[in-house]
Amino acid sequence: MQFAGSHILSVQQFQRDDVERIFAVADDMRPYAQRRRITRVLEGAILGSMFFEPSTRTRVSFGSAFNLLGGEVRETTGFESTAIAKGESLYDTARVLSGYSDVIAMRHPAEGSVGEFAVASRVPVINGGDGSNEHPSQALLDLYTINSEIAGRGGSIDKLRIAMVGDLRHGRTVHSLCKLLCLFPNVQVVLVSPLELRMPGEIVEDMRKSGLQVMESDVLEASIAHVDIVYSTRIQEERFSSQEEADLYRGRFRLNQSIYTSHCEPNTVIMHPLPRDSRDNARELDDDLNDNPNLAIFRQADNGVLVRMALFALILDVAEQVDRHARDVSWYTAGRF
Ligand code: CP
Repeated sequence: MQFAGSHILSVQQFQRDDVERIFAVADDMRPYAQRRRITRVLEGAILGSMFFEPSTRTRVSFGSAFNLLGGEVRETTGFESTAIAKGESLYDTARVLSGYSDVIAMRHPAEGSVGEFAVASRVPVINGGDGSNEHPSQALLDLYTINSEIAGRGGSIDKLRIAMVGDLRHGRTVHSLCKLLCLFPNVQVVLVSPLELRMPGEIVEDMRKSGLQVMESDVLEASIAHVDIVYSTRIQEERFSSQEEADLYRGRFRLNQSIYTSHCEPNTVIMHPLPRDSRDNARELDDDLNDNPNLAIFRQADNGVLVRMALFALILDVAEQVDRHARDVSWYTAGRF
């Protein structure tokens, strides 16, 4: 694809060589993300960060990624802090904000809303999550993490065996990851969920058409026995009509150290897009896994900065110029990834 000037709305706009290009640029970003080098390649550029739903990782790592490239961030959070609360349309908001920004990262609770916004925007828009639909930058950082974790264990994405567990109906991260995996036809996927929260049928159909082996199950233990990656997800309570309805499913599939030791192969990597739900009635990924070296969740979150820096560098067409605007850092830097 042509990255320069493009919106990033869905993983379905990528071919395999696009993904490889993003990962190569993400690798190049490591000295900057680790604060060993500073670059000012985006000095003067402005990221408009518009998050109409709660976010810790996506919002802050998009902002950090832009700052690390030398750019500035202007941010709105929630509807109440914008004129949308006074009835302004997404169209008008996009027209106005794209006059103040060079690129926009946006999250919105309605499916398709970020695409609608992008149509009116005069600058590239990156989808930071639109309802249950997609979260493309998360899928990219997930696949980047899968690649780096299993490469160290002699594996490759082409031979990947992965179990995705939890609320697969509403989880936009697993929707995007499954669509992205369609570029890798030998992958084996086990989809583990309550029957009511299964992966949407059209996504499963597309995976099978692409050649992937897909199994569906509502039993955790047997499903995680022969996989390289267990990718756990939270019950997406914000997509249910009531907390009581979400409570029916919360805590249904819990991975803890004891279950991991009894059922997983020794080097199985544990991933989760986060946030994990650490309340007593949920705990889909127990805190007792925190010392397990195969728990990759925080490496995964760190990788979000690398992948988002790569997206900005490619979309704003400066990937080849980053090093020319660089110097060493002069302050104390704590060890980072
Ligand atoms: N993974 C993810 O989207 O996290 P946030 O909701 O904190 O952005």
